[in-house]
This record gives sequence, C-alpha cells and structure tokens, in this order.
Amino acid sequence: MQKQWSAIDSYIESHLVPNDPMLVHAVDNTQAQGFPEHLAVAPNQGMLLQMLIQMNQCKRVLEVGTFAAYSTLWLARALPANGYLLTIEGREKHATLALENIQHAQLAVPIDLKVGMASEVIKALPEDTEPFDFIFIDADKQSYPEYLELSLKLSHPGTIIVLDNVIRAGDILDQDNHKPSIEGIREMYQLMHNHPQLLSSTAIQTVGSKGHDGFAIAIVK
Ligand code: DHB
Ligand code: MG
Repeated sequence: MQKQWSAIDSYIESHLVPNDPMLVHAVDNTQAQGFPEHLAVAPNQGMLLQMLIQMNQCKRVLEVGTFAAYSTLWLARALPANGYLLTIEGREKHATLALENIQHAQLAVPIDLKVGMASEVIKALPEDTEPFDFIFIDADKQSYPEYLELSLKLSHPGTIIVLDNVIRAGDILDQDNHKPSIEGIREMYQLMHNHPQLLSSTAIQTVGSKGHDGFAIAIVK
C-alpha cells in the first residue's frame, strides 16, 4: 500500500502543490546533510497547514518542534509581513539545520527560532507575550499532553491547535504498546476529550508518502 500512497501523494503534489524553490532547498539540504527526511510533513500536508492559516487569517504562529524548519516555512509562507512565527527546537543539530533553511528562504515575516526544551522555553516567555492564533505541535510525542496545556495558556478564543502524528500507523490502539510516545498521544486524546477550554476537537487519519498517521485539531473556546 505504501507504494500507492506515495504515488498518489506525488500525483496530488504535481497538480496542486507549487514547487517553491525555498521548500525544495530545505528538503534537499536536509537530505544532503544526512538527516532523516521522514520527520518532516509531506508537501501536501504543509499546504494544508498553510491553508488553515489563510482560512483564519492568522498572524501569530507558534510551532513546537522545528526539526529542519520545513513545516516552519509552510507556516511562515502563509503569514503577512506584519505576522510573527516562534518555533522551538530541542536539539542543537536540528536547530542549526533549521536556521540554515530559514535564512536561505529570506521570508519577510519574522521567524524566531528558540533552542531548548519546549516546555522550558514556553514557561520562560515574557508574561506579556501576546496569544498565538495558530499553534502547531510536532515535537516529542511523549510531551503532547503538556504541550497542549501550555498551548492553551498562550491561546485566545478561536486559536487553532494542530498536533501531528496522532495515529502512528495504529499503534495508539495496540494495547501492548507502552512506548512513552504512544502513551503520550493516548493521554493527549484523554485530555482533549471534553476539555473545558476547547470548543471542538477531532483527529483525521492520513495515508501518503509519510505512511499512515494523522493530525489532531482543536479550536480554543
Ligand atoms: C517522527 C516524528 C514526526 O514528527 C513525524 O512527523 C514522523 C516521525 C518520529 O519521531 O519518528
Ligand atoms: Mg511530525
């Protein structure tokens, strides 16, 4: 099935996803330096993130988990020049790669890359930090419940929170799988369920070049 999913993603991309040189460069640079490419979102998923931002005319975006900044560039690409994007990466090596890709892109919107444990970076943000309009959580899955709670503190009514990799090829249903990442995702579902600060939440499973996985999405009340 993987072969067909990838072929269909290529078909979708060749028709609907523009071949932006800065995005192509980010993927090529990531590959050239020997980093695993599968950690990044697929191009058509990047486009979906961009469209969610456009639909809601978001200006301030927070990303938790930068990796190579491929999704960062999709998020930033959708923002007006007076927007702002804060992205947080825990690993120095990934942050160095991300910075290269961000600098090469030369986007007008300011992109702030902070390096450190996301929970600590978020807790260290100034008291008067304005809330974000859109939050993309794509870091260590073990900490998803914590990232969701911290995101709510940085939200306003209507903020959209998207979390990547919430299906993991069905591992979330495997009762014998007690990996911290999988437990973290299950706990995230528990937390979202009837959360008093969320207006609505759902998850969508996806298949494609990145295998069988999915996004969760929530709107803040
Ligand atoms: C992994 C992490 C991701 O965020 C992703 O999109 C795919 C895979 C991982 O850690 O394996
Ligand atoms: Mg991911």
